[in-house]
Amino acid sequence: MPGFSFAAMSELNERLTDLHARFERALEVASDERSLEAARAQYLGRSGDLAAIRRSIGRLPSDERPTAGKEINDAVAAMEELLERRRVKVASHAVEEALSRRVDVTFPAPEARLGSTHPIRHVIEDACTYFERRGFAVVLGPEVEPDYYNFDALNIPPEHPAREGFDSFWIDETLLLRPHTSPMQIRTMQNHRPPIAIIAPGKCYRRDAVDARHHFQFHQLEGLLVAEGVHFGHLKGMLAGLCRVLLGAHQSVRFRPSFFPFTEPSAEVDTTCPKCGGSATACSMCGGSGWIELGGAGMVHANVLREVGYDPQRLSGWAFGFGAERIALARYDVDDIRRFIDSDPDFLEQLA
Ligand code: DAH
Repeated sequence: MPGFSFAAMSELNERLTDLHARFERALEVASDERSLEAARAQYLGRSGDLAAIRRSIGRLPSDERPTAGKEINDAVAAMEELLERRRVKVASHAVEEALSRRVDVTFPAPEARLGSTHPIRHVIEDACTYFERRGFAVVLGPEVEPDYYNFDALNIPPEHPAREGFDSFWIDETLLLRPHTSPMQIRTMQNHRPPIAIIAPGKCYRRDAVDARHHFQFHQLEGLLVAEGVHFGHLKGMLAGLCRVLLGAHQSVRFRPSFFPFTEPSAEVDTTCPKCGGSATACSMCGGSGWIELGGAGMVHANVLREVGYDPQRLSGWAFGFGAERIALARYDVDDIRRFIDSDPDFLEQLA
C-alpha cells in the first residue's frame, strides 16, 4: 500500500484494543441500565474516548484515512455488540430478581375500568326505543350532504334567508356538513312509499361559537310521520309521551308559534322544566320560566310533500327536530354542554 505508515496504523490498533478492553471491564461492573448508559456515553458517546480517536484520523496522511476509518467503525460495531449483550443480561437479571421476591398470587388485581354508555347515546337510544315500540323505523344518514337535501328539497331555495340561520360548514359549493337531521325526511320519503314513520338520530354541525349551551357539533333527533289523516294532535301526544319517557312521569309539552320553511304551521316545543317541575321562580335550569326548549316541529309543508312526489291532498304528516344535548342537559342536570365531549371518565361514569 503506497504511503501506508505501519507505525501509525499499529498505534491506532493498539489504542482501539486497549479501549475495547477497558470498555469490557466497565460493562462488567455495570449492574443496571443507568451505569450501562454512563459507560456507553464515556466510551462511545459524542465526546467520548472513541470520538477522540476518530478525530485524530485527521492527522494521518490522506491515503491512510479510509483504512483507519474502517478500523474504527469495526471497533465501534464490536463495542456496541458487547453493550447490547450486557444490556440483555442486566435486564433479565432484573426480572429474575423481581420474580424471586415473594409474590402473593391471591392479592386482588386492580379493578379494570370498564367504559359506560355515553349520556347522549343513552338519550338517543331511549328515544329510539320509544318510537320503535310505536312502529317507527330508526334510520341513519350521511353527515356530509348536498345542499339539495339540506335546503332546496326542504322548501329553502338558494336565496332564502333561512339558509343563513343554519350557519353551515361548507365543503365546496354544494356539499356541506349537515346542520340538521331534516335531510333524512327527504331521503326517506324519496325512497319509500307512504305511510312513513321514522326517527332519525345523528350528529349535526354548525358554525356556532362554543359556550355552555352551544357547540359546533351536536346531535339531533328527527321524527317524521306521513300518512292519511295525520294531524297535530298525534304530534302532541307522541311528544308528551317521549318527554315522560326521557324526563319524568309528570312532563307536559307546550307549543309556541314559530316558523320553519318545511312545516306549516310550525312550532317551538317546550317541556316542563324537570328540575323545578315548572314551579321555582329562581330555577337554575329554566331561569324561572318553568319550561325548557327541545326544538322545532310542525305539519310537513305541502311543498315538501310535492317535492318527493307525494300528494298533499291525500297525505299529511308531522315532523320534529329536537336537540339531544338539550334533553341530556335537563335529564342529567348538567350545566355545560362541553362536559359531554370532554371525555372525563369520572363525569361520564356518574351519569351512566
Ligand atoms: N331542522 C330544524 C332545525 O334544526 C328543526 C326542525 C323544525 C325539525 C321543525 C323539524 C321540524 O322536523 O318539523 O332548526
